[in-house]
Formats: sequence, structure tokens, C-alpha cells
Amino acid sequence: MDNFNYYFDNIHLLGIQGMNKKTIQSILERAQYFNQKKKNRKNKILKDSLVINLFFENSTRTKASFEIAAKSMSADILNISVSSSSIKKGETLIDTAATLNAMHPDFLILRHPNSGAAEMLSKHVECSIINAGDGRHEHPTQALLDAAVIKEEGINLEGLKIAICGDILNSRVARSNIYLLTTMGAQVSVIGPPTLIPKDIERMGVKVFFDLNSGLKSSDIIMILRLQNERMDGSETPSKREYYSFFGINENNLKLAKKNALVMHPGPMNRGVEIASLLADNNEISLVKKQVEMGVSVRIACLEMLKLSRNKLLK
Ligand code: CP
Repeated sequence: MDNFNYYFDNIHLLGIQGMNKKTIQSILERAQYFNQKKKNRKNKILKDSLVINLFFENSTRTKASFEIAAKSMSADILNISVSSSSIKKGETLIDTAATLNAMHPDFLILRHPNSGAAEMLSKHVECSIINAGDGRHEHPTQALLDAAVIKEEGINLEGLKIAICGDILNSRVARSNIYLLTTMGAQVSVIGPPTLIPKDIERMGVKVFFDLNSGLKSSDIIMILRLQNERMDGSETPSKREYYSFFGINENNLKLAKKNALVMHPGPMNRGVEIASLLADNNEISLVKKQVEMGVSVRIACLEMLKLSRNKLLK
């Protein structure tokens, strides 16, 4: 196996904010390397390591892909079921993490509804914390896998015109992608109703469009986001049908973007709300399946990088 020249000096992966171009580039290249070996990627990088998945919110893609990644790296993995754990008896997040930490895991992969939960935990444990999504804050491995898929399509991130459409306000995926894509030199636009766009989002270096037609114009890629009802109070959109008529992406309104424009969606998708079913299933245009596939490769690359970084920093 080739050596991994990583440029990262932390034992935790908490977000994309502050990550430089060289670090991002190295993770994307390593993920592409593992993606090419996907039929034969069993390795011993995490032999004798213990990985714990601690998910306080539902997940299919992230949780499964971390488990598959860890197993393919020969780690032992434990999935904590929050619904049958002592969290239900009132144990706090810190006490739960301290309890698990006392069993000496090497990695604790955390998904939590509160923004900042991963960073807070990182101050209380010795193991590496990987943020698998914290509230509206960040979902770093999602942004890395999205960028790796774009690169795998042979598309340069520098100068890429990418529009992120939908519920930007409640989306950690949007935030991590904006940090990553702007760092890599892409031109990022956000499209959505004013109720779903944070007031000061221009400060993140993006253009704002409240109208789909102008937002899609000259975009190379449209990243479509789900309405995150679990973080809404119900006043943000009048109805799903009305939302679809103004902001839903289908094969017809996609013609407003550049010829051969591609669409992405981090999943889970709500068909007929933010994306038309026909478009979601059109693998000539939709990168959704490739995003899921790359999820495993990116998580292998991130686990390897943290293992190497831990070995160097803690020796
Ligand atoms: N994209 C994503 O985080 O999906 P899951 O919620 O299924 O993990």
C-alpha cells in the first residue's frame, strides 16, 4: 500500500472550518486511492484499534459507512444504541463519553443534535473524536466525500460554479461544503427562500439567490438539500407542494443551469419535495449513488489520517 502524505496535526476531526487546501487535497486524493481499490481494500491499518459509533440522531449512510470503513481496516467496532443505553436514564453526554472512554476506544464517532457537541466532547476524552454531524454546525466527512466525487468525475474544484439549493439554514452539510469549496477556489451560490437562508451567509464568501431561475444560471453542479424538518418550527415553508413548485429541482428546470450540469444530494432524499424522482434516478446526471460509494473511501482516508496523526502527536 502507498504511504499517505497527510498534512494534519490534530487527533480529532471536528470540522472543515480552518482546514487548509493542502490538507483537503491530501484527503481527497487518499479517498480516491481507496475508491479505486474498492473491491480489494481490506487492510490492517486499524488492527487492534477500537472504534465506537455513538449516534444520537438517525443515520443510514454515515453510520454504515464508518462501520464498513473500520471493518475493512481490521478494527473492532461497537455501535451504541442510544435508545437502549443509559442515556435514556438521564446520563449526560459527557458522562456517557467518559464511560465509553474508560473502555479505551481509539475513535469515538459522534452524531448529535447540538452544534458544538463534538468539540465539547473532544475536551473530555483521550480518544479521537470524529464529528459525524453536530446540529446545524458541521458534517466534515460529508463535505469531503462530496468533493472527492466531484474530483473523481474529472472536474476541477478551482473555478467550479456550484449552487447549493434548499434548506441552508438548518444544514451542517451546507456549512461544511461552503468552507471546503470556497477554500478550494470554487464559486459557491446558495439558493432558497429567505426563511431558509441565514441572514449573514454572504460572510462565508457565497452569493445568495432567493429565486431558482437566477440561482441555477451558469451552475456546473447543483447540490440539493433536504428540508430538515427535525430542526424547524413549522413556519419556514407554507407546504411541501409549494416548496417543490418554487425550489424543487427536476430535469426541466435543470436546463437553466449549464449544459451537462450534474446534481448531488447528500441523502436522505425527499422525492417530490426538493428533487424529482426521475432526476434522482438518472445516473447520467445524478451523482447520488457515487456519493454513497465514496462515503466509505473518505471515511477510510479520515480514519487512517487520524491514526497516523495520533501516533505522531501522542508518542
Ligand atoms: N448524508 C447523511 O449524513 O446521511 P445519513 O443521515 O443517512 O447518515
